[in-house]
Amino acid sequence: MKIAVIGTGYVGLVSGTCFSEFGHEVTCVDKDAKKIDALERGIMPIYEPGLDSMVGRNVDAGRLKFTTSLQEAMEGARAVFIAVGTPSRRGDGHADLQYVFAAVEEAAAYINDYTVVITKSTVPVGTGAEIKARLTTLLSPDLFDVASNPEFLREGAAIEDFMRPDRVVVGVDSDKAQVLLRELYRPLFLNETPVVFTNRETAEVIKYAANAFLATKISFINEMADLCELVGADVQQVARGIGLDNRIGSKFLHAGPGFGGSCFPKDTRALVSTADQYGLPLRIVRSVVEVNEERKRAMADKIIKACGGSVQGKKLALLGLTFKPNTDDMRESPSLDIIPALQKAGAVIHAHDPKGMEEAEKLLSNVTFHDDPYGTMKDADALVIVTEWNQFRALDLDRAKGLMKEAVLVDLRNIYAKAAPENHGFRYTGIGRGE
Ligand code: UGA
Repeated sequence: MKIAVIGTGYVGLVSGTCFSEFGHEVTCVDKDAKKIDALERGIMPIYEPGLDSMVGRNVDAGRLKFTTSLQEAMEGARAVFIAVGTPSRRGDGHADLQYVFAAVEEAAAYINDYTVVITKSTVPVGTGAEIKARLTTLLSPDLFDVASNPEFLREGAAIEDFMRPDRVVVGVDSDKAQVLLRELYRPLFLNETPVVFTNRETAEVIKYAANAFLATKISFINEMADLCELVGADVQQVARGIGLDNRIGSKFLHAGPGFGGSCFPKDTRALVSTADQYGLPLRIVRSVVEVNEERKRAMADKIIKACGGSVQGKKLALLGLTFKPNTDDMRESPSLDIIPALQKAGAVIHAHDPKGMEEAEKLLSNVTFHDDPYGTMKDADALVIVTEWNQFRALDLDRAKGLMKEAVLVDLRNIYAKAAPENHGFRYTGIGRGE
């Protein structure tokens, strides 16, 4: 099937590439000529494991193309995926849909045969209906349908999530659109992937409810971590002890410095804002947002405490800047709250991240970046692990201690068992690990 994907950000690029891997003929279009030019030369705009080779393979096979011409992308396309950004609008936290509507209206100019317009971007409930209303003023109703097909991709594992998903959710309001979407995902039907066909509004809510629920699990375990520290309990064992109950499940119960990224913070805020419009105070999700924002700020205080109550003039070595490992994405990363707060308290920051330093340099000031973890540690008063990259899981602690002025380790992701650094002479602080 011929498919157009509008927007080559994270979602569009991964989805378009994976659809071409299924055997469809995909054209990805973006207004950013520099990005398209780079993609044509095989240079990826984001770091995502396995993406570059999959792009290369499908471009070589003639199934995947990149262009700045919407007309070219729309030529013969039976499915058009809208995968442009939906940033949080300043002030009210509502998803900003101007790029979605602009993309739909521009694409409409090239629709002259039955086409399904599908939202992949995360859009608030009601957006599909609004798209349909707008298209109805531009096109004959038999020429199009509007569907919602939210993505559940995790950065760093996006290819795997697309090719072997737990489920696919499709919201449609016509049989014809359902048949087309079924055809698009046929390779997954063969793997018996559950596909939830529902109406558009339900599909739109499923996306936000899934992210809000996962974010709730994280804020919940983070608060349990605080309690554990006060009462002498260990949050990792609490997570294991509750997670073994199948009704709870063991995933997304890692306590840490708070969730970041381009999805959870934005989507939880947008969900609260949608509910507000209907006069519904979504109290649980609202608290999740608040707990998370406070948490990121509280992490700086935790580090200061671990340094004996002051970091004035102290040199801190920070490992990991991205919001999670295996990505170069810095959006809403806890490090963006923690570092300025530490600097305000007088600390001098040296940092290393395997993939995120280029982005981090644009967002942080007065940070000295190093190409390897040990470079950060020379004469440092404390070592702080902010993001759990695999590279940091087995640091040479003797070497680290030899380089540092003070052997203090603050592990905001609990990647070390307490005893290991302590055996190497470190004073260790983790998350939720009461004495
Ligand atoms: C998230 C969802 O997991 C995807 O299913 C969804 O498609 C995506 O948002 C989206 O809406 O596009 P992502 O933002 O890539 O994916 O990252 P996650 O792996 O979910 O992690 C989000 C944040 O939560 C990270 O900062 C991570 O460190 C934190 N986290 C995650 C924890 O603190 N504890 C956990 O147990 C799990």
